[in-house]
Amino acid sequence: PAQVVPQAPEDPLFGLARAFKADTSPQKVDLGIGAYRDENAKPWVLPVVKKADEIIRNDPEANHEYLPIAGLASFTSKAAEIVLGASAPAIAEGRVASIQTISGTGACHLGGLFLSRFYNPYGNASKKPTVYLSNPTWANHNQIFSNVGLPIAQYPYFDKKTRGLDIVGMKKALSDAPERSIILLHACAHNPTGVDPTPAQWREIAEIMAAKGHFPFFDTAYQGFASGDLDRDAAAIRLFVELGFELVIAQSFAKNFGLYGERAGCFHFVSAPSLDAASVTTRVASQLTLLQRSEISNPPIYGAKVASIVLNDPALFAEWKENLRTMSGRIIDMRKALRAKLEELGTPGTWNHITDQIGMFSFTGLNENQVAKIREEFHIYMTKNGRISMAGLNTRNVDYVAGAVDKVVRE
Ligand code: LMR
Repeated sequence: PAQVVPQAPEDPLFGLARAFKADTSPQKVDLGIGAYRDENAKPWVLPVVKKADEIIRNDPEANHEYLPIAGLASFTSKAAEIVLGASAPAIAEGRVASIQTISGTGACHLGGLFLSRFYNPYGNASKKPTVYLSNPTWANHNQIFSNVGLPIAQYPYFDKKTRGLDIVGMKKALSDAPERSIILLHACAHNPTGVDPTPAQWREIAEIMAAKGHFPFFDTAYQGFASGDLDRDAAAIRLFVELGFELVIAQSFAKNFGLYGERAGCFHFVSAPSLDAASVTTRVASQLTLLQRSEISNPPIYGAKVASIVLNDPALFAEWKENLRTMSGRIIDMRKALRAKLEELGTPGTWNHITDQIGMFSFTGLNENQVAKIREEFHIYMTKNGRISMAGLNTRNVDYVAGAVDKVVRE
């Protein structure tokens, strides 16, 4: 095969991170990858994670044995509670099959693989259901679902004029999509736009999806970053579960625990209320376990242990929520600061979208040309679509960034 392997393009996001690292300018600013940075532009190990680290270090029983194929049960069971609610009927009724994954990417992959095998809504194995992705979406979604042989389509999401949600276009596309399509939904803090449906809009979306028999595939990577409140950020998923959908959830703890490299995540299959729910859950879990065994054998232990310690201890759990508020609060402060500075400079255009959008990202509206210029002239790095990771801003660089945006917008 070596002779015929073509050169693949570099991953845009990790390529951006590499270019930033290689830039020797002291003024450089990294607004690229969605990873939290503190006021000093440094990675932040959550204080509660440090405590969990300490507990693991001092545990004489700790070892490096394999986890079971489905992962650490004390982690996956709490992960389900975090997303569905501790008193969720779906959990009490045994309707949730949870399996630990290689963070959110691994959960999307395992979910895609599972659906490509077992979701056969047209009774014809060669006619696969299409996965509808928001336009735009996290770039990796495209290749994750293509890689498991599922066709991809898009639904309108971002309205360039209002820099908000194109709810009309989205609803029309969901109505026009073939029945029983798979619809990928960002649970909260949409990546890359920072634009989420309102609770009323979620209800409208759910109604259309129920009428069309669509299958919801939720990706939740930013729970705690949208509103700062874990329950509110899970409201869309909980609504769909309450409405009785059969659905799946890809859950990442990379961002909200700051466990990026530890790859702590979970995949949940929630079946619709039924008399044989227990049997469905057992069968689904058995197939997920079989797929997992050939894919990764069993998931990594360390991040799961850290999260499990925190999620199972009321005091540490409360502290985690406090740490989450620290991160989301600083991001909100930076949104306000960036908007205020742009408005003070009288930068052409409107900038309210910076504070209207939520979560880790802002979709600035800068075009590809402006993004290239701001990188060349000011050493400020962001993705080509004009997305900035708000966490890369701090009180020392926000004026510099605003000044640079002002300059490229006027050019
Ligand atoms: C991002 O979009 O920046 C993050 O989700 C990081 C990633 O893995 O792409």
